[in-house]
Amino acid sequence: MSAVVVEANPVKFEQPAIPPAEPCVVVIFGATGDLTKRKLMPALCRLLGQGCLESVRILGIGRNPMSEDEFQGIVREALESSKKIEHLDDEQWKKYSGRLHYMAGELDNGNTYGQISARLEELAKEGASKNCLFYLATPPSLFSMIVKQLGESGLANEDEHWSRIVIEKPFGRDLESAKALNAEILQVFKESQVYRIDHYLGKETVQNILVFRFGNSMFEPIWNRNYVDYVEITAAESVGVGSRAGYYEEAGALRDMVANHLLQLVTLTAMEPPVAFDADSVREEKVQVLRSIRRLKPEQVAERTVRAQYGPGEIDGEKVKGYKEEEGVKAGSQTETYAAVEFQISNWRWSGVPFYVRTGKHLGRQLTEIAVHLKRTPQALFARTPDEEIDPNVIAIRLQPNEGIRVNFGAKRPGFEMQTATVHMDFCYASGFGVESPDAYEMLLLDVMQGEATLFIRSDEVEAQWRLITPIEEAWSSQKLATYPAGSDGPTEADELLARNGHSWRKLAETSAGCE
Ligand code: BG6
Repeated sequence: MSAVVVEANPVKFEQPAIPPAEPCVVVIFGATGDLTKRKLMPALCRLLGQGCLESVRILGIGRNPMSEDEFQGIVREALESSKKIEHLDDEQWKKYSGRLHYMAGELDNGNTYGQISARLEELAKEGASKNCLFYLATPPSLFSMIVKQLGESGLANEDEHWSRIVIEKPFGRDLESAKALNAEILQVFKESQVYRIDHYLGKETVQNILVFRFGNSMFEPIWNRNYVDYVEITAAESVGVGSRAGYYEEAGALRDMVANHLLQLVTLTAMEPPVAFDADSVREEKVQVLRSIRRLKPEQVAERTVRAQYGPGEIDGEKVKGYKEEEGVKAGSQTETYAAVEFQISNWRWSGVPFYVRTGKHLGRQLTEIAVHLKRTPQALFARTPDEEIDPNVIAIRLQPNEGIRVNFGAKRPGFEMQTATVHMDFCYASGFGVESPDAYEMLLLDVMQGEATLFIRSDEVEAQWRLITPIEEAWSSQKLATYPAGSDGPTEADELLARNGHSWRKLAETSAGCE
């Protein structure tokens, strides 16, 4: 494929001031856990550095008794080893640590919540706000118990102040458990107090899907079954299961990635324009997409899905173990590390257009991308043989890494003959804007502290997601597990899934947004 790179003009713009968070105390359950150390603390520290958290305090709750100094030591170490924090100087640390508090307590003991309440009173006397943001960064098995205790202790109540709760994924493990968890939460909190997080929605490039689709008259009119042949959504990771086998053995790729992140990308790619960019309007349209997707019947699951596990292989020249040899994985494990599904959205806009999604660990490279394949024009003018046909146009929205957009199109090769080639136009986020995007957790944490729920999942949305995933999980209990070598593009079965419709996945090694 020839490459004609059309540079997007660097966009010159004034970065608008970031609106500050509303005054509050962020109460983190699971304060010394992995999520808090890797994501929440760096995000909060960076927000503070940008002047958004002037009236915010942080109260960590953990099981291990330790002094506030010891807790601050753990947080400092986490910040220093975070790639998101380039340099933590003493002044910055002093400012951050000055608002970091800690309390030990067993989460299943009602007394702990009385003590949290008393600690919040003390902080209020020192000038902290009474608004409370409860962040559940604990294993999911503790979610309902913490919610119940927050209810019984009165901490969920709102009078002169607000009380909000953030729930991490996974939200349930099937439709029944998600419904039960929703019911438990909604007995204690109102829906408007609940923020179910899917960190993909905090990614700048994910939000850009809506601007790209609805803000551009060259793309908006073609975004439908008349022009689109099929849509391919990939979330490939080169990393393996790492140290998370305990969690992953229970989840698998379908629950871990498809049930949330990938279905969210499907909804944003397929939704109708909302009447406004507010929480209710956007989420309403997203739920409509999920409701329009046909649930797979057991006999369709074998035909329209692939589940596979990585075997030994090589990534970037290094030999890697197969999944079954990873630490913490059960002998003979049948957990899938790769999932591919063909979804059909049976609504007016998308009838007949397959949306293929695939995700996997230890694939050849990291890539998250939405590729919209347009239908071919009649080729009579150019092609005497299939080899001479112009490739169909593809609009590839690269979400990570090297965020950007690439549009492929056909052009005449220079010369006396009528010969054609595929060329492309690229837009790269980094060079286009010249500024770094905020991390997803920064974006989402600030949104919760501002009471902005657009980028969070509503109760009906999470149930609609599970309504599609649960029948697949059920049928998979008796479906063969394919394998793929680590470092490859996935199992051959996934190629066959598309080939039966005359389609094919983009090769991971060949995809590019031209931003490398
Ligand atoms: C998490 C999954 O939700 O998303 C992980 O549990 C996965 O297994 C991660 O690695 C991918 O997120 P990102 O932002 O790195 O694409």
